[in-house]
Amino acid sequence: MDKRKNKVDILLGLQWGDEGKGKIVDFLTPDYPLIARFQGGPNAGHTLEFDGQKYVLHTIPSGVFHEGSINLIGNGVVIDPRIFKGEIESTQIPLSDFVKRLYISKKAHLILPSHKLLDAALESSKGTFKIGSTLKGIGPTYTDKVARIGIRTGSIVDKDFKTKYDQLKKQHLMMGEALDFDTDTFRPDGLSFEEYENQWFEGVELIRLFPLIDSEIYVNKQREAGIRILAEGAQGSLLDIDFGSYPFVTSSNTVAAGACTGLGIAPSSVGEVYGIFKAYCTRVGSGPFPTELFDSNGEEMRREGNEFGSTTGRPRRCGWLDLPALKYAVMLNGVTRLIMTKADVLSIFEKIQLCIGYEYNGEVIDYLPFDYNHKNLIPVFKTLDGWKQNLRPFSTYEALPKSLKDFVEYVENYLNVPVFIVSTGPDRAQTIVREIE
Ligand code: GDP
Ligand code: IMO
Ligand code: MG
Repeated sequence: MDKRKNKVDILLGLQWGDEGKGKIVDFLTPDYPLIARFQGGPNAGHTLEFDGQKYVLHTIPSGVFHEGSINLIGNGVVIDPRIFKGEIESTQIPLSDFVKRLYISKKAHLILPSHKLLDAALESSKGTFKIGSTLKGIGPTYTDKVARIGIRTGSIVDKDFKTKYDQLKKQHLMMGEALDFDTDTFRPDGLSFEEYENQWFEGVELIRLFPLIDSEIYVNKQREAGIRILAEGAQGSLLDIDFGSYPFVTSSNTVAAGACTGLGIAPSSVGEVYGIFKAYCTRVGSGPFPTELFDSNGEEMRREGNEFGSTTGRPRRCGWLDLPALKYAVMLNGVTRLIMTKADVLSIFEKIQLCIGYEYNGEVIDYLPFDYNHKNLIPVFKTLDGWKQNLRPFSTYEALPKSLKDFVEYVENYLNVPVFIVSTGPDRAQTIVREIE
């Protein structure tokens, strides 16, 4: 019996986001007729490269460039219609085709322009303790969802949609003022509030053209019919609202359990859990980062890996691979297969460091303690030889340089999960699949 039959596979990031999820989902899509995003929103930036073109997706699942697959924006996702419209246009896929391959859950919540205003107001009220939010309105939208006052995508067809919109906006503006935020000078993405709002409503009109569905019913029917489904995560496990370095986290459950609530699937219907990680670490925004490098190695990693945010363009903080943090993420997600990206970036180093534990209060530990911060956790490193080779010519795992395979196998042994894919460049073609059981 095929143990994957009637199951939903999940692909998610194991670090602080930007592990290369978009690239790998696009690569795997030919095996999956249905790709479904389950959480997050336009704080995500998922990059895909093929045929000399580069695309960055924020809300739309990364399988959209494959004609034969349906893409679903699940109930756990939050949508900004203005950003959604920009994304649709940037793909250059004709709208008549797009509406046949992208479905949207009626239960996905809408990010209002005034949610963005509140995001900015809350960040500016935090002074030096800023989260470093992408300011896309994510936190305030999920707050309203939990407070049971949010507006869902399915409501855009209601007669009183505009009334509900105006009521919620009024409430947000009052909250902004209570936070001493100058709402009059707020310019979302360089636009006046009114301009943003007008474009937002144009986005709402565009959303009306797509199938708005009860996606939990659809997903389960497809699953029962034996259609293979891949759930695409956004952000990474160390940004999870419960398990990340709170408060420096995002506002959704980025771990595998989030796929159950974000799509309406039962835990028993989860199949493979693909955990994706970079061969080193990056983080955008504030918060603890035990292996962060402040020296020329960090700068070289940033340059070689082009580590600048896909959504905000901000430079990403860089550091060596953190195995205890990765082990924690593997545990939270029940990862069955690992995917390692950006092996090519480490080709510049003679020696490569791997964090294998931390010094904490005078002892060595291999987990992330509750109160970890920049000062109380000192990484313990193991040094391995680098491979110092251009990885372009390699297309099989067996042929890869021995020191790279030693690195992969060290990671596998530490985590006790096999590495299934090694990515050696941003292009779809630069992907090495390894034969594993
Ligand atoms: P995501 O948010 O997880 O989808 O990742 P992002 O797209 O934000 O960031 C990953 C970046 O690394 C993108 O610019 C990708 O094109 C690029 N990328 C993905 N895999 C590789 C790889 O194996 N090597 C290199 N050099 N770049 C990669
Ligand atoms: P993808 O899907 C990297 C970070 C922000 C900030 C924190 C909270 O591309 O991997 P938010 O906007 O959610 O209030 O920001 O989370 N963050 C990401 N970092 N990749 C992402 O998504 C991220 N989405 C949010 O930088 O530190
Ligand atoms: Mg990203």
